[in-house]
Amino acid sequence: MARIEGVYRELCDATEYVTIVTNGPDGPHLAGHWGNYMRIVDPGDVVIFPIGRFQRTEQNLRANGNIQLMAASRKVQGTRSPGQGCVIAGSGEIVTEGEYLDLVREKFPWARGALVMRVASMSTQL
Ligand SMILES: Cc1cc2nc3c(=O)[nH]c(=O)nc-3n(C[C@H](O)[C@H](O)[C@H](O)COP(=O)(O)O)c2cc1C
Repeated sequence: MARIEGVYRELCDATEYVTIVTNGPDGPHLAGHWGNYMRIVDPGDVVIFPIGRFQRTEQNLRANGNIQLMAASRKVQGTRSPGQGCVIAGSGEIVTEGEYLDLVREKFPWARGALVMRVASMSTQL
């Protein structure tokens, strides 16, 4: 497991939205979420999101747990100029009970479940 810290935490805090990529039977499947709905659970190796729909993402994760997130912001300094982005990769599942659902429902009582991602690796793009 890897921990989201440093520039990766800055990006997760600053990004307006997050792209969520899973693997479906016909190839990659993209979904989206608001950046400020993403919660990094201490010490930083787990990320959770409130889930309303996400039916295809859930089906995909049952068959193949690999998941990737992309976050980016012009407000975070890149290597050469303002603006950075990153890909965070790991394994994911949608849970409908337990401690992670309780955590997302603290802020999002409407959530039918929590998308729980365990972080394995991260890379920057700029
Ligand atoms: C910026 C953004 C924010 C979103 N926020 C939510 C959200 O808070 N809750 C939710 O259930 N879906 C949200 N969605 C919609 C899901 O990404 C969408 O339902 C997606 O198709 C996932 O469903 P699927 O896995 O069945 O394709 C958001 C999408 C975008 C682009």
